[in-house]
Amino acid sequence: MCGIVGYIGKKDNPQIGLSALKRLEYRGYDSAGMAVFNPEKQEIFCLKAKGKISELERKFYSAPFSGSPFIFHTRWATHGEASEINAHPHWDCQKNIFLVHNGIIENYQELKEKLEKEGHKFQSETDTEVLCHLIEKYFQGNLEEAVRQALKEVRGTYGIAVISKKDPQKIVAAKLGSPLILGINQDEFLIASDPAAIVSHTRQVITLDDNEIAVLSPNNFFILKEKPIEKIEWDAGEAQKQGFSHFMLKEIMEQPESIETPLRGRLIIDQGLAKLGGLEPVKERLKGIERLNIVACGTARHACLVGEYMLEEYTGIPVEVEASSEFRYRKQILDKKTAVLAVSQSGETADTLEAIKEAKEKGIMCLGVVNVVGSTISRETDAGIYNHAGPEIGVASTKAFTSQLTVLALLTLFLGRQREMSLVMGQRIAKELLRIPELMREVLKSEAQVKELAQKYKDFNNLMYIGRKYNYPIAREGAHKIKEIAYVHAEGMRAGELKHCELALIDENFPTIAICPSDSVYDKMKNAMEEIKARQGKILAVATEGNNEIKNLVDDVIYIPKTLEMLTPILSVVPLQLFAYYVGVLRGYDVDHPKNLAKAVTVE
Ligand code: AGP
Repeated sequence: MCGIVGYIGKKDNPQIGLSALKRLEYRGYDSAGMAVFNPEKQEIFCLKAKGKISELERKFYSAPFSGSPFIFHTRWATHGEASEINAHPHWDCQKNIFLVHNGIIENYQELKEKLEKEGHKFQSETDTEVLCHLIEKYFQGNLEEAVRQALKEVRGTYGIAVISKKDPQKIVAAKLGSPLILGINQDEFLIASDPAAIVSHTRQVITLDDNEIAVLSPNNFFILKEKPIEKIEWDAGEAQKQGFSHFMLKEIMEQPESIETPLRGRLIIDQGLAKLGGLEPVKERLKGIERLNIVACGTARHACLVGEYMLEEYTGIPVEVEASSEFRYRKQILDKKTAVLAVSQSGETADTLEAIKEAKEKGIMCLGVVNVVGSTISRETDAGIYNHAGPEIGVASTKAFTSQLTVLALLTLFLGRQREMSLVMGQRIAKELLRIPELMREVLKSEAQVKELAQKYKDFNNLMYIGRKYNYPIAREGAHKIKEIAYVHAEGMRAGELKHCELALIDENFPTIAICPSDSVYDKMKNAMEEIKARQGKILAVATEGNNEIKNLVDDVIYIPKTLEMLTPILSVVPLQLFAYYVGVLRGYDVDHPKNLAKAVTVE
């Protein structure tokens, strides 16, 4: 989704902005732009390009210029097509004010009509451009004052960075509902929508809160409220590909570590307990909850569907998983004994954030399972658990997903032991959780085999994914991955439902991926696979090591090690991630930047 980078300081080389912007490429975008104040000419030079940042870079190097401050942007179209004219920065009638914006201005039509009547001339189809003209309207020499006045009239969400040639020694940044962080370094300040953009410059950051305005000058910065300086705990290297051809592959391969970190220090094996510091403040209240509503989107929601099985089986708490985008639009039957749990990798997903706000308004306790430390959802919730999976760059969520499953297993142990779960069961789950990273390393050894299978199945345009119980959500996640990365149509089904409809689609050209570990529903899975075989459907199975009989039933098998049924999904999803990855690569797609998608979906 859109990305913002801004710089003010002694270095006057816009290359800084270009490389910072490239670190945001993973978020997905369709155009890019930059505005640089050149002190000698007292002018702001602006460049824009449709498509990749490399196109902007090419334009810049064909006639380079220098200066500071500068602001950069990647746009993901919401209002108006992806084009050079709609790309940011936008400017006012006098070409005095240049602005980049993330978010959506909901009342832009009415503001635009009003401003046009007052004589302002618009160039683009964007909602953003109204901000430039509104600021122009209020500008009397002091940029922050004009921004402050203008924002009073705006409804919607924004993270903005603004520069002006008539008040040039500053960047003014403001935020409402769209993240912005301020980076602090010796003699320079940066602003960005994502820490990944600036972590190679500084780890000293301040996260702006909603309705705050920051003013950055070459030697100083000012925010309308005193804020503590925080430290980013990961380094720039963790956000690089480190020799892998794609971030997605790197992130799949580093899963043993990214599920080990959330477990570190959180298990007391002999007492069969999970120690979750983030839940301490609400520990006693949690003993009294009688219902749990979980909200999440996309892949995070699939993790929650697995969590639903875990939590209901081991804690006895009724759980409902709802797509965040639906939560606030239906009648919610919530009472003070209900808790709402939001699960989000980015911690910025607008739909999930809005669901949380809705629940908070009703006085409901809100918890979070979030990967990005300090993100909006982590700050909006009453208490929560961080995934600690490290930065996830690939748009397709992989390591965040398995770390979400791991954290949900920890939560199950935590809440289960507050209730009916026995000491012995607690110890069993805790011990097995500690083994999971090692078992994951075993699964990853199947990479070469999965690559060969991807070659074999890559030309099918339809795939059926089936599973039951704990592995039904994994069927959905497998289908989700291949759709977003390889653009293959896929269905993720409960195996038992197949015979009620989708079996009609099955023939030799519509293969099935069956997730069928040796668990409590294996025999039922076998029935579904027999039905598929009877209709000449090909089957690729993910099964438990030692299950040799399955070879007689299916065309291909990938084995995973045996573990507790509730933890099987953490392993069974991995071959499906690799399969989607290799099918996408073999079909020639840029798997780190799937078309039309963004990493953090910050619009509703
Ligand atoms: C995952 O592969 C997708 N890109 C997407 O479905 C994602 O899981 C969803 O947008 C939720 O994001 P979040 O976890 O950051 O809230």
